[in-house]
Amino acid sequence: MIPSQRHLFDIPPDVAYLNCAYMSPLMHEVLAAGQAGLARKARPWTIGGGDFFDPPEEARALFAGLVGGDAEGVAIVPAASYGIATAAANLPLKPGQRILVAADQFPSNRHAWAALARRRGAELLAVDGPDLTEAFLAAIDERCAIVACAQCRWTDGARVDLERLAPAVRAAGAALVLDLTQSAGAMPVDLGRIDPDFAVAATYKWLLGPYSLGFLHVAARHRDGRPLEEGWMNRAGSEDFARLVRPSEFYRPGARRFDMGEVANFALLPAAIAAMRRIREWGVDAIAATLAARNAQIAARAAGLGLAALPEARRAGHFLGLRLPGPARADLARALAGEGVHVSVRGDMLRVTPHLWVEAGDVDRFIAALARLV
Ligand SMILES: Cc1ncc(COP(=O)(O)O)c(C=O)c1O
Repeated sequence: MIPSQRHLFDIPPDVAYLNCAYMSPLMHEVLAAGQAGLARKARPWTIGGGDFFDPPEEARALFAGLVGGDAEGVAIVPAASYGIATAAANLPLKPGQRILVAADQFPSNRHAWAALARRRGAELLAVDGPDLTEAFLAAIDERCAIVACAQCRWTDGARVDLERLAPAVRAAGAALVLDLTQSAGAMPVDLGRIDPDFAVAATYKWLLGPYSLGFLHVAARHRDGRPLEEGWMNRAGSEDFARLVRPSEFYRPGARRFDMGEVANFALLPAAIAAMRRIREWGVDAIAATLAARNAQIAARAAGLGLAALPEARRAGHFLGLRLPGPARADLARALAGEGVHVSVRGDMLRVTPHLWVEAGDVDRFIAALARLV
């Protein structure tokens, strides 16, 4: 178990912030790295060629290390939606074929598939059931061309067992696209073994990083694909600024062709790097175990108030969706916030997502507020 890391964050004692699934707070050191990076642009003569190319490489390696992936296969993107759009632009889909998503899947991993299905005369099918893994497995057949899902659902934490799903997707000859935004950094995953075609994660939740940044892991078989943009940095030889007047027709190696324009963001990348270094130091397995234990305590206490969580076997340990005993009062989230408790309300679900800054007093504050308001 990792002890409280509250001292690394800027969270006042009377704030119980149980909403990492909405947006994680930046650690002091992450904020400092981002501010220092932004400040460098005030003195552009201090920004050299290496600043364009070195931080992206460190960020690729750190992300790959956290998800069991290959640093050469990591592209840097501005959002999960960008990664999903890249996947949609590079996967084959014929009329009559199917794309599978989960019911209530996050829109950034749904809209692109709905549009692609419309354009190609294919079908988008949303699956659901008490066990989301089983629901996907049951829906995979010879019509299935793409399965696009998350490792855990953003509304209730329902887990998809990727170790079981991936072989079934492969056996059907379909592609697997993962949105790891609600899991990367807090839930172990081994992309080397699962071998998804594309896997994306935005950094501003469980990677404890800034907003407007993410990583896209691209399988080796797609690294000769078509990027969404044709920026100067993605081309071979772009490190040599003097030769940019005669750009190469070839891309840089690995997944770098899929990098977003202006990939060397001098403020956001250093912040993301600082956060991922800290996550690497804690270890994703230890983070997951610590958050699972914390959430099991919260689930047990909430059960006493009539709020039910999915059984542990079917949900992600770091992610708690609590079903309210009746319809939520319209102002529940605001009323809880008024008591210094920050969670998300989604329909009749309370989404409770603590991280390492949360202490026993925060949980007490949350349970006491729930008892008064629900
Ligand atoms: C599952 C999931 N994916 C992605 C995102 C963010 O998407 P984007 O980076 O496209 O804004 C969220 C935000 O809540 C999410 O819950």
